[in-house]
Amino acid sequence: MNIRLDKLLADSGFGTRSDVKQLVRSGSVSVNGAICKDSGLKIDTDKDNVEVRGKQVDFSEFEYYMLYKPAGIITASRDKKEKTVLDLIESKKRRDLFPVGRLDRDTEGLLLITNDGELSHKLLSPGKHVDKKYIVFITGNPPEDIAEQFKNGVDIGDEKPTKPAILKTYNNIDSLKNTYGETILSDYALECIQNAESDISIYDITITEGRYHEIKRMFEAVDCKVIYLMRYSMGNLTLDPTLNPGNYTKIHRDFIN
Ligand code: URA
Repeated sequence: MNIRLDKLLADSGFGTRSDVKQLVRSGSVSVNGAICKDSGLKIDTDKDNVEVRGKQVDFSEFEYYMLYKPAGIITASRDKKEKTVLDLIESKKRRDLFPVGRLDRDTEGLLLITNDGELSHKLLSPGKHVDKKYIVFITGNPPEDIAEQFKNGVDIGDEKPTKPAILKTYNNIDSLKNTYGETILSDYALECIQNAESDISIYDITITEGRYHEIKRMFEAVDCKVIYLMRYSMGNLTLDPTLNPGNYTKIHRDFIN
């Protein structure tokens, strides 16, 4: 790919466009071994070697991170007051990363962070019906036919009912652990279970849309309350079981459909 030197440096995390122009003017940047003071120089990323203060710049056009979003962090790229999911990705190089879709502040689990707009569109576009799978703990008395109701779509107060959702019941926490492994429950999940004011029911739910508070509103529609929600899968991507809340791992584009 061909790219201007100042854009390559800015995209690689060396500051704003004017910061990097200053950096280039100061003589700290070399291209193929020679100091370069021309910010507009066209770089061929497949051939040219760019160094800043003698250290090679590792340019990536696209980056992909799988984050285990912890509860308490907002899904945004940046925020003046609050820590965001992007603040958790310490090793990021690109400045144009964003979260693919949104998880509520108190929702945990799989969040893809990238700057690949095309992939994001593919995963989020309503017409593509990409499966998003969650574990959910609720309180209240779910109706016996809840799985049927969710399959038929639920009126959550929007113009249209929700698209069909698949609901699977877990009898207890042990059966959940038998399916997903011992580490499936985070400290926050255990806290939510402990603080529950009445008996909880455990479900696995698959939805294909991404409406605001969709799962919480679906359970509200049947007089139940979500007390814990965790996404473990999106399309062909499954949360890496070795990750803890707040941890992330860099992934390859080929890993995602
Ligand atoms: N549905 C919700 O209610 N919240 C989320 O964070 C994701 C899906």
